Amino acid sequence: MASFSAVAYYIPYSSTFFPNKPPKFNNRRRNPVVKFTCKAKNGETSPGKLDRRDVLLGLGGLCSTTSLSANPMALADPALPDFKDCIDATEPNMTLINCCPPAASGIKDYVPSATTVNTRMPAQSVEVGSDYYNKYTDAIEKMKNLSPSDPRNFRQQANVHCAYCDGGYTLKGSPKLLYEIHNSWLFFPWHRWYVYFFEKICQNLIDDDTFTLPFWNWDAPQGMQIPSIYNSSVISPLYDCFRNPDHLPPTVINLDWSYDDVPVDPKLQIKYNLSTMYTQMITQSKTPNDFFGKAYRAGDDITTLDGAGQIEQTPHNHVHIWTGTAVDQSNPIDMGTFYSAARDPIFFAHHASVDRMWTIWLNNLGGSNYTDKDWLNAYFIFYNEEAKPVRVRIKDCLDTTKLGYKYEDVPIPWLDESAKPQPRATAKTLPSAPDPAQVFPTTLDKPISVIVKRPTKSGTGSSEEILVIEGIEYDKRNYVKFSVYINEDDVNASRPDNTEFLGSFSNLAHGHRTTTTITMKTNKQFRISQVLEDLGAQDYDKVLVTLIPKSNPVKINGIKIEFES
Ligand code: C2O
Repeated sequence: MASFSAVAYYIPYSSTFFPNKPPKFNNRRRNPVVKFTCKAKNGETSPGKLDRRDVLLGLGGLCSTTSLSANPMALADPALPDFKDCIDATEPNMTLINCCPPAASGIKDYVPSATTVNTRMPAQSVEVGSDYYNKYTDAIEKMKNLSPSDPRNFRQQANVHCAYCDGGYTLKGSPKLLYEIHNSWLFFPWHRWYVYFFEKICQNLIDDDTFTLPFWNWDAPQGMQIPSIYNSSVISPLYDCFRNPDHLPPTVINLDWSYDDVPVDPKLQIKYNLSTMYTQMITQSKTPNDFFGKAYRAGDDITTLDGAGQIEQTPHNHVHIWTGTAVDQSNPIDMGTFYSAARDPIFFAHHASVDRMWTIWLNNLGGSNYTDKDWLNAYFIFYNEEAKPVRVRIKDCLDTTKLGYKYEDVPIPWLDESAKPQPRATAKTLPSAPDPAQVFPTTLDKPISVIVKRPTKSGTGSSEEILVIEGIEYDKRNYVKFSVYINEDDVNASRPDNTEFLGSFSNLAHGHRTTTTITMKTNKQFRISQVLEDLGAQDYDKVLVTLIPKSNPVKINGIKIEFES
């Protein structure tokens, strides 16, 4: 662990970055009894058009009062952000951050229809000083030099991420509920659109519509460290000082990283990473539910939803926390926490890589997109390369060639069976452990093992068994992680390339440092039928499940095994 203090690097609120709004503490969220909303003066709406109130992006106004009432749009409508009233988030140490975008009017619908397809290349193949590197740094430098009130300004772009995930917006139709683009099926499409517009802005600033962002190829050995273009020793706009100093090149990334992990031999770490990719993309991602995350619709409370997809948790969250300054678990910054993650230019290469996983899942692994209309019709609003606000829908981002890009066809070594985790020990007699009912609910502040009964099959329906860790409660403001093992009597000996290691649950800290906890309550599912077969335990009527805390403790309400519904 490095010996510097994270506090020394802390940047307090600076009015240079946020010229549009004076910092003021806003606690309406916590006491939402009566709310002021802004209505346009001649505010008729017409079908298919945006509500006029949406036209004022993040702009406060005082026109009428409305009391909160039951959500009129509950169920069977997309979850949409309400733009009429963007609210400040707070940084750690209670410093206020205004991540609301500048005011805009005249939002237009946008459907992309690219005629040429550019190729996003792996970041490790880019040489510092090459023509491409010069274009890339030029674009980011120009973006950083734009007026701070220009929505295309680099900091404003980072704030787009903050506003969408750190409570900047409420859920349309449900003013008491926060809107959020993590922890649900919005995760992949929202980030695809976000990176798309960031890339468009780059193209526009350097007047080159063939320019693409690179992707951080962390799923292949040659990409498993911070790519050198982001770590250049010459002063570079791609560099960010808020990275974990222990994780600079040539340190190999750990795609399932925990604070207490002891570094291992780089070759071994690469092997573990490939197994992690195999587990997450193949063993655990069979359905859109697994891969994208669960449905999030109008009226849904994101704090009690079933939650994130497999890839969002691992490797996505771990790449963030591994990269971000993480000396002190309670004070992660830049990549390590959502409000500031996109202040590090590497964020966009990380998310291009996450986005590439979507294409691999569809093209190489037989995955399919959701066909649910509440997913397809969900929309987001971004500023485009001309600093004009546009409304885009999920259904219009499903084909990347229409968006004008594809990914370079580089090797995907974890698709190979050699990456598949192997049993550490073959089927053994299970040690004795209590029944879940004797243990839960409890706080996971030490390792816990339980013996869980498998369900018996009756009638038709899926025979795929799902292990459910039920009612995981934690404070959204905190980094949270625990690991889960099955039929493992020695968790200290088990590694990510062992079948017994099922995977991890994680939450990346959200920037809110309100005095009030933001309690999340969710479940985590693991597919275990194939795993039990691989362990030679398919005929056991019970399994041993072990949970190992890796962070701030969480509360767990139960563990069960059920058939997939
Ligand atoms: Cu919106 Cu990687 O996070």
